Amino acid sequence: MHKKLINFVQEYYHTKEFIPLHTPTFCGNEKLYVNNTLDSTFVSSVGKYVDQFEQQIEVYTGTAKAIAAVNGTAALHTALYMAGVKSGDLVITQALTFVATCNALYHMGAEPVFVDVSKVSLGLCPIALDNYLEDNAFINNDGFSQHKLTQQVFRAVVPMHTFGHPVELDELMVVCSKWGIALVEDAAESLGSFYKGQHTGTFGSFSAISFNGNKVITTGGGGMVLCKSFDEGLHTKHITTTAKVPHPYEFFHDEPGFNYRMPNLNAALGCAQMEALPKFLKQKRKLALKYKDLFMGSEFQFIEEAGYAKSNYWLNAIICLDAASRETFIKQTNAHGVMTRPIWKLMHRLPMFENAFRGPLENSEFIEARVVNIPSTPSEIGKSDA
Ligand SMILES: Cc1ncc(COP(=O)(O)O)c(C=O)c1O
Repeated sequence: MHKKLINFVQEYYHTKEFIPLHTPTFCGNEKLYVNNTLDSTFVSSVGKYVDQFEQQIEVYTGTAKAIAAVNGTAALHTALYMAGVKSGDLVITQALTFVATCNALYHMGAEPVFVDVSKVSLGLCPIALDNYLEDNAFINNDGFSQHKLTQQVFRAVVPMHTFGHPVELDELMVVCSKWGIALVEDAAESLGSFYKGQHTGTFGSFSAISFNGNKVITTGGGGMVLCKSFDEGLHTKHITTTAKVPHPYEFFHDEPGFNYRMPNLNAALGCAQMEALPKFLKQKRKLALKYKDLFMGSEFQFIEEAGYAKSNYWLNAIICLDAASRETFIKQTNAHGVMTRPIWKLMHRLPMFENAFRGPLENSEFIEARVVNIPSTPSEIGKSDA
């Protein structure tokens, strides 16, 4: 099968050179807008492109307020801060995620609690979440959940839309409200992914998107906080911009803030990339369908969107029969210049999170041993019959 994949992607991308997993595509107004920032000298934290980019994201996702940030990790850090996460709190998330999810909560002084994922979504499983809380939590007089042993408050639940595939949000929201825990979505990978017609990242009180170079669209580095409430959105902007009270020349800051502003230079790139987003999504969906056909009837299962979801198919992925078959597949494809990569190691295997509380992680372990990402860059030339 690895030979079939190698032939397919080499034909699809019309090259025998190295084929990476995901690279940026600049085919529209990127140079024009970036040059505008240089010509105007507004390359830093002030400039029209930041506002424009935030508005584009608001219109596209339907969120009440979008606040640009310097990267996705900073956006998630801000989202957790705004959701009220405090030092000593517990934050429930997936062991199957990129480390940035846990880094953001760690830097709030919180501790991660790992709960299993669903095999349907690859994201946090609502049943596993409820079971974990039934076994380990009680609801206090204020309506918040605390850990039965340590009394720590479970302050937030952070599901992550793995590779752009939306988690089961309705069910997760029911569990979160049953236990009085805030929902914060790590939507870093899911710009362009919808759950039952609503954009991911608009369900939680706060969410974070990433525009890192490997994402569906990029600003070089960048992120966005999505805020469900307009007023909370204004407050979010305030704290990401040093909490400075507006004044023509006086410095007065009325609370602790971050300097997480996205520079205008990066936002200019983002504005142009947003114009191309619908095209990228179409191309990515086409590629996913081709992969689905390619792997049909083989020992590898192509990961498709769930029935309730429209995925952006950010990173295409397959499930191998077992760890040994995956090892061979990864070795062979990389040896032929086609980049493939195993999914992340589970977070509790990393030294800094090895003592974290966790529930049973059977699905996470199954996926960890078998899933591989395959090249996913959207491509014009992919319009051919490759
Ligand atoms: C799941 C997840 N969370 C958070 C991030 C952090 O985003 P960034 O790299 O922009 O800081 C990323 C991406 O890199 C990610 O994949």
